[in-house]
Amino acid sequence: MKALCWEGVNKVAVEQVPDPQIRNSGDMIVRVRRTVTCGSDLHLLGGYIPFMRAGDVLGHEFVGEVVEVGPGIRCHTVGDRVVVSSFISCGQCWYCQRREYSLCENGNTNPAITEHLWGAAPGGCFGYSHAMGGFAGSHAEYIRVPFADVGAFTIPGDVSDERALFASDSASTGWMGADLGGVRPGDVVAVWGAGAVGQMAARAALLLGAEQVICVDRFDYRLALAAQQVGAETLNYERDDVGAELLERTGGRGPDVCIEAVGMEAHAAGPQHVYDTVKQQLRLQTDRIAALRSAIYNCRKGGSVFVLGVFAGVVDKFPLGAVMNKGLTVRGAQMHGQRYIPMLLERMSRGELVTEYLATHTMSLDEGQRGYDIFKDKTDGCLRTVFIP
Ligand SMILES: NC(=O)c1ccc[n+]([C@@H]2O[C@H](COP(=O)([O-])OP(=O)(O)OC[C@H]3O[C@@H](n4cnc5c(N)ncnc54)[C@H](O)[C@@H]3O)[C@@H](O)[C@H]2O)c1
Ligand SMILES: [Zn+2]
Ligand SMILES: [Zn+2]
Repeated sequence: MKALCWEGVNKVAVEQVPDPQIRNSGDMIVRVRRTVTCGSDLHLLGGYIPFMRAGDVLGHEFVGEVVEVGPGIRCHTVGDRVVVSSFISCGQCWYCQRREYSLCENGNTNPAITEHLWGAAPGGCFGYSHAMGGFAGSHAEYIRVPFADVGAFTIPGDVSDERALFASDSASTGWMGADLGGVRPGDVVAVWGAGAVGQMAARAALLLGAEQVICVDRFDYRLALAAQQVGAETLNYERDDVGAELLERTGGRGPDVCIEAVGMEAHAAGPQHVYDTVKQQLRLQTDRIAALRSAIYNCRKGGSVFVLGVFAGVVDKFPLGAVMNKGLTVRGAQMHGQRYIPMLLERMSRGELVTEYLATHTMSLDEGQRGYDIFKDKTDGCLRTVFIP
């Protein structure tokens, strides 16, 4: 079959790869109908997560049709239209029982790398390097879905593929940020990063009752979408004084919840950016944390900061003093998709959660390089590129 593979730093190509096979009784084979780029893929593409091999199939956010089920599958039959969580979780272990699915003890079949890096391995993820299990991704005609009764969900008839697609990863990630970030009715929430993840976090915060949600980015076309489609206020950190504006808009106190939806390749205005980038290139730090720093500095005393952006390791100038002295709660997580997808599909069906506007570009896998280039460079008004295999 045809698949879009990682070939080296910022290089992808379509290759012929073997068709996936059922390997375990809980597996299912899905014919991919739509698969989409994610900011997380950019970290792989840029070589910031150095556990990819040339020829690895990319992609972890997708919808498709079930074409084959293993003997242990109870919840699906051939022909079902499904959306699949990007994280792979067994549904049985201690963490899955606590609904902390991305912490699954059995999803990652190659735990040694992340145990060494972080002290313990999280679950597995489709198309997300050998550190996350080395699973083939969804930018392909077909994909093997392990633990499919746990990770795949039938899409209600009145929800389109274009909408359901984003329940797979960006909408569930965004919802988790607002939920575990502790958003309460009446809160003011600020979100750094107006990519699909940030936009979905902002939308979730509003649906959870936040009174005011403010998105921070430097790309006006993304901020405009956050205003029009999500109902968020916006700040452009290259033009606006983010700290002063946030104080002004919160009666001098600062946001209650700050959500970081940028990750390890954060951009910063001014010379700080060059300094952070050089240190990262020299491997003196693995991540650039300009947005996280801003979230921590600007959060109100006693507030909470949730890290949705992906980070790999150790960082420079982490403002621990602000965390301690301002009494902040800082949390982060990979997405617990299985916990949120059924609820998100219901909200999609009711029209409360509209996501299809995130797909600014739709093309075939053959155009993969262009699709990733415009997504990476934020050109041509790209928010997410969807591929139809
Ligand atoms: N926790 C999870 O499970 C999970 C799931 C999906 C994605 N992610 C991560 O979420 C992050 C965002 O993903 P995305 O798909 O929206 O990516 P994206 O690349 O489309 O968007 C990132 C946005 O951040 C903005 N940005 C950069 N520096 C900034 C700064 N200093 N302040 C404010 N904004 C800044 C960029 O301009 C861009 O618009 C990535 O790190 C991705 O890996 C995490
Ligand atoms: Zn993702
Ligand atoms: Zn588990």
